[in-house]
Amino acid sequence: MTEVPTVTDPAAPDGDATESEAAVRDRVVRLLERSRTRSIALTDAVDEADLVAQHSPLMSPLVWDLAHIGSQEELWLVRDVGGREPLRPEIDGLYDAFQHSRASRVDLPLLTPPEARAYVAEVRDKALDALGSTPLRGRRLVEHGFAFGMIVQHEQQHDETMLATHQLRAGAPVLHAEPPPPGPGPARLGAREVLVPAGPFVQGTSTEPWALDNERPAHTVDLPAFVIDTYPVTNAEYTAFVEAGGYDDPRWWSARGWAHRVEADLRAPQFWERDASGTWWRRRFGVVEPVPADEPVVHVCFHEAAAYAAWVGKRLPTEAEWEKAARHDPATGRSRRYPWGDEEPGAGHANLGQRHLQPAPLGAYPAGVSALGVHQMLGDVWEWCDSGWEPYPGFEMFPYPEYSQVFFGGDYKVLRGGSFGTDPSAVRATFRNWDHPIRRQIFSGFRCARDASAAEAAESSGVPTGGR
Ligand SMILES: [Fe+2]
Repeated sequence: MTEVPTVTDPAAPDGDATESEAAVRDRVVRLLERSRTRSIALTDAVDEADLVAQHSPLMSPLVWDLAHIGSQEELWLVRDVGGREPLRPEIDGLYDAFQHSRASRVDLPLLTPPEARAYVAEVRDKALDALGSTPLRGRRLVEHGFAFGMIVQHEQQHDETMLATHQLRAGAPVLHAEPPPPGPGPARLGAREVLVPAGPFVQGTSTEPWALDNERPAHTVDLPAFVIDTYPVTNAEYTAFVEAGGYDDPRWWSARGWAHRVEADLRAPQFWERDASGTWWRRRFGVVEPVPADEPVVHVCFHEAAAYAAWVGKRLPTEAEWEKAARHDPATGRSRRYPWGDEEPGAGHANLGQRHLQPAPLGAYPAGVSALGVHQMLGDVWEWCDSGWEPYPGFEMFPYPEYSQVFFGGDYKVLRGGSFGTDPSAVRATFRNWDHPIRRQIFSGFRCARDASAAEAAESSGVPTGGR
């Protein structure tokens, strides 16, 4: 792969970048309300004992996430953008994610649930006041409402984290949602793979107003031809790997993956269990149900995803391959904001925003297909990519190193596309996520890819195979 940095982003739409200040304010208010409605729903769903409990050493108590949401909003919108006095300076350290590990937060003198609720409401009043009285220009932090967009995304990211805590919590179901739309059924899905021709595409963005520093800048990446799965790997496909003894055969696993498989005693995706008759069941937000065949598999770690891919003779896509399959429009040569185009995600495009509490069956979102014909790139499950967490060429940290810079080069793999638990405001086709390769309490799945054969590469470039 060769990377050629460019200074312009011919791909970028100019719609949002030219949005009026009043329109930006309206949008911020609407999105701040939406994220708060969700935070309240996730924390009101359980009693106070549950809010302060540690449901897993991997997760914070829910009441920590709630007050941390308020703390970040206070730091950025009330103090920095608004220039107001601190509300509760004495609690800053408690809610600094870098000072306390998730496992240790339960032992801190945290705000009680009523105190946390009062705190986030007071912060919100002052943040809205700052929004009304601050010109959204003259300073990069506020251009196009960036700081507000960053805080909207931060709250939604913690809402997804809280949703993952709900999945780890024992007890009766407390969250409810409509089932996702049906798919057309396995027989009508068409080809399992899509051939992506060789050539350059624009990765990342220099113009998307609320894109985070790690998505910038736009740059050209030239990839050889490759083949990528049209859909994510399903439960039925993954079950075949489990049943074939895939977890017992080190041939399919990397050395590190196998060591982890053995040490953690992995035998199937998290939350799965097989009964005496051989039927696989899963626990999903307190509901125990048979594993649905046609849904993307979820709650697998990077090592499991990579082992499955090896078993079928493929590999995981790189991050650049994933983004090209999601964004590149071969007819125009430009990269889209979303797989389907530049239009904001609607209910028919993708399974986003916790409208449903599970991934949707394959083919459930025909309106969300990418220009190259790849389905369900956004929503459903975060997709593991075989790429480490690295900056793009020309990366500039903004506005603080702890968002992404301090994690570059660490023991992480990239995840793309968001899940059913990701809000549309917190994901786009350029959005990059990362986590440790052993994590699977997140809503993580994958699709496979492979190098194009010589014949496929020739076919995709229009050169006749036997011609010269
Ligand atoms: Fe945070």
